[in-house]
Formats: sequence, C-alpha cells, structure tokens
Amino acid sequence: MSDRILESEKQMEDFAFEDKNIRPDSISEYIGQEDVKQNIKIYVESAKMREESLDHVLLYGPPGLGKTTLANIIANEMGVNLKTASGPSIEKPGDLAAILSTLEPNDVLFIDEIHRMPSYIEEILYPAMEDYALDIIFGGEGSSRSIRINLPHFTLVGATTRVGDLTSPLRDRFGIICKLQYYTVDELSKIVERTSKVLKVPIEKEAAVELASRSRGTPRIANRLFKRVRDFALVEGNGVIDLDITKMALERLKIDDRGLDEVDHQLLLAIIQKFGGGPVGIESVASTIGEEVSTIEDVYEPYLLQQGFLKRTPRGRVVTPLAYEHLKIEYQNSIFN
Ligand SMILES: Nc1ncnc2c1ncn2[C@@H]1O[C@H](COP(=O)(O)OP(=O)(O)OP(=O)(O)O)[C@@H](O)[C@H]1O
Ligand SMILES: [Mg+2]
Repeated sequence: MSDRILESEKQMEDFAFEDKNIRPDSISEYIGQEDVKQNIKIYVESAKMREESLDHVLLYGPPGLGKTTLANIIANEMGVNLKTASGPSIEKPGDLAAILSTLEPNDVLFIDEIHRMPSYIEEILYPAMEDYALDIIFGGEGSSRSIRINLPHFTLVGATTRVGDLTSPLRDRFGIICKLQYYTVDELSKIVERTSKVLKVPIEKEAAVELASRSRGTPRIANRLFKRVRDFALVEGNGVIDLDITKMALERLKIDDRGLDEVDHQLLLAIIQKFGGGPVGIESVASTIGEEVSTIEDVYEPYLLQQGFLKRTPRGRVVTPLAYEHLKIEYQNSIFN
C-alpha cells in the first residue's frame, strides 16, 4: 500500500532486524492492555497447573496494536513452540495438514489474518480445534473414504483486524476472545521509553510524551516515529531525543500535534470545501481524493472517527466542529443539518 509513515499496517521496514529486539517477549514487558493481560496470565497459569494445552485464543483489533506480539508471548509463557501461518497463505488442505503434523503437545499455532482463510480450510480446522483430529479424505467421487489422524492437543491463536468477517462456527470454537484497544498516551510513552532503552538512544520524558500523543494510539506507529526522530537527533542534534528535535522532526514529517498527516488533512478539507462539511457518501469522498473506499474505511477513517473529527451518519460522513477548530477553519453549520 502507501509508504505513509502513519500507516498502522505493517511495512517492509517493520521486518527490520531492530524490530525483533523492540518487540517484548514476556507478559511483564508487554505494556498496557491491562484487562487482556490479567486474564491471559490466569488462563496460562491454570493450563500449566493442569498440564494441558491453553484453550484456543482469538485476538482482534486494529493493525499494529500488538496481536502478533501477544501470540509470541503466549507461546513463551506456556513454554512451548510457536508455529506461524497466515489465513491467505493456507491454500490447500495439505498446507494446513503439513503445519498441524509438526505440532508437539501444547504448542501454539498462530494463524494471522484468520478471516482470510478459505472456507474449505476452515472445515478441516473444526475437528482439529474440537477433537484434535485431522480427517483426511482419499479418492474421488463414489469411492472416497476418509481416515482420522489424531493430533496432539494444541492451542490455536487466531488474529484478525476484522472480527465481523469471521464465520460464527469458527468464532464459537475459540474459548478465549480478546479485543485489543487503542493505547493511551501514557502507555505509548512507556513503550517509546522502552524502545529507547532497547535501541540505546536516550529520549527525554517530554519528548516521549510528545511522540506518544502523535502516534494514533498505536505502538507500531510510536516505534516507527521514534526511529525517524532518532535519525534527526543523530544527524542534526547530539544524539539525544529532546522536545525540540522531536517537534522539528515531526514538522518535517508533516505530522500535526494530534497525529494527523497530509492525507487526513486532505480528506477533511475535501469534505469541508467540496461538500459543505457533509453529510457526503464515502464513494464521493473516495473519488475526490483519489483513494479506494476500502482504504478510507480501513486505514484513514478509524482514527478520525475515534478522535471525534469525523462522524458517520445514515446520510454519510460529516466533519465535526472539533475538526474545523483543529484545522482553524470557521465552522459553518451545513445547510443539510
Ligand atoms: N503492548 C506492547 N508493549 C510494547 N510494544 C508493543 C506492544 N504492542 C505492540 N508493540 C510493538 O508494536 C509493534 C507492532 O505490534 P504487532 O506486530 O504485534 O501488531 P499486530 O496487532 O500484530 O498488527 P497487525 O494487525 O498489522 O498484524 C511490535 O513490533 C511491537 O514492538
Ligand atoms: Mg500481526
């Protein structure tokens, strides 16, 4: 997709070596998501006491909030292996069988983007999740027969950004369902401070708070902005990230004090200038700024809605007075209101 720095979806650089170190690998290092953490701690402890596999876990929430990280942590805390697959990469029944057959007792199988798994694969997964068994069908029409292979007990951890796209039979087979929330500024600044220690680049407290408040509630964005601000501090400063260098760097990256970038501004301005602030259909907005409807819905809009800059109404999108104020444009009550 885009090379937008505020993009919360994974980008190539997030696979860089330094990211392996930034990612926390125990539950005590995982910042925020207190409710989810408390519960998972108990379930893991209980499973270990019973010497059984942990129940299947479904993690859902917007991109970059720490689902993959949490799946890794669950395997670490259970003291088992983690095997990873992603929904769209499992194309044939054999692909799934191949992964399942490598599992050892109590292992974690992590399936990312589980909502994109083909439905015929889902059906093989049901008995695997429920009875720890794999039904393999031989032969063609008329002469087909099946054999059942027993699997060790294992934990399926599924992750999705779109829980509504999951079929209900699949959703019902998860015993533990956790929703990840956007992070507070306080939590994000702790994440930034942790990253600064791991990468050995000092950051001052106010700078960490500033960075955190422009990171759209998302650890992936906080870490990405941290690395860019670090670059400015190294090249144009003395290597320490202070408030001045942070503000200067974010200005150069065109990220405003609420974490909005040029695309967000374009979107809000388009609705204000071309459609009197709305209500306007998402399709019209999309064609005005030259983006796909789905990109607006999945990528740009969630943060604007969450911050109260944009509202969804039955008649379309409306820019709120708060957004006018933020953009320093005088609010004109729309003629449609
Ligand atoms: N609670 C946390 N504490 C510290 N760092 C975190 C936390 N959650 C996420 N991170 C950092 O943010 C980055 C993104 O997290 P992660 O890859 O787990 O997100 P995700 O929810 O799996 O995203 P996607 O939906 O795109 O797969 C990680 O590399 C990690 O360093
Ligand atoms: Mg992930």
